Amino acid sequence: MIESILDTLQSYASRHDVPIADDPTRQYIKSILEVYRPRYCLEIGSAIGYSTIAMAANIQRRWGKLDSCEVSYPSYRIALHHIYQSQLSNIVLTYGDFRKFPADFYAYTFDFVFVDGQKNQYLEYYLKLVQNRLIDAESVLVFDDVIQYAHKIQPLIDHLDSQRTPYTIRPLNKSDGILVVGASASW
Ligand SMILES: C[S@@+](CC[C@H](N)C(=O)[O-])C[C@H]1O[C@@H](n2cnc3c(N)ncnc32)[C@H](O)[C@@H]1O
Repeated sequence: MIESILDTLQSYASRHDVPIADDPTRQYIKSILEVYRPRYCLEIGSAIGYSTIAMAANIQRRWGKLDSCEVSYPSYRIALHHIYQSQLSNIVLTYGDFRKFPADFYAYTFDFVFVDGQKNQYLEYYLKLVQNRLIDAESVLVFDDVIQYAHKIQPLIDHLDSQRTPYTIRPLNKSDGILVVGASASW
């Protein structure tokens, strides 16, 4: 059932020009989730809920939970509808700008974070994750679309370099790729 919902969402995204994670990115995240087995996961930028549902379906069998947030109210409503259709019970979807959530909004330290919001806000998301102790040394972070938008994510790269935080940029298709931060940056 999940695969058929994801197929429907892929068609919806291409009809409505909604940018969603491509197949190589989805496969790569799936392999991280299966080996790393995170319990508490966070997504920044759910759009219509495609990657949200794909990740939550994967972690559910290991009792994993996914918090996701979306700043656009129309997208949030669409994602909510798709999550309801998926019948997954391990997703908490919040409407709002991740940068503006109170410091104590989330109750846990996340084991895995998929960052897929606005590319020129990536450094702000990272700083908030660190400053609000939403991640620790064991957390794995995946930032999407970092090659196509290299100029927009440069402040994040500069910050990671200045802090000597290990990261890997991994090309996954002809034009784009992801950036992995954390203990498993060598993935
Ligand atoms: C590339 S799309 C997400 C695609 C989705 N992760 C997927 O693969 O199916 C980026 C989304 O991030 C949302 N977004 C942008 N800035 C945000 C913020 N500060 N907080 C939460 N969501 C944000 C946008 O509204 C947009 O829907």
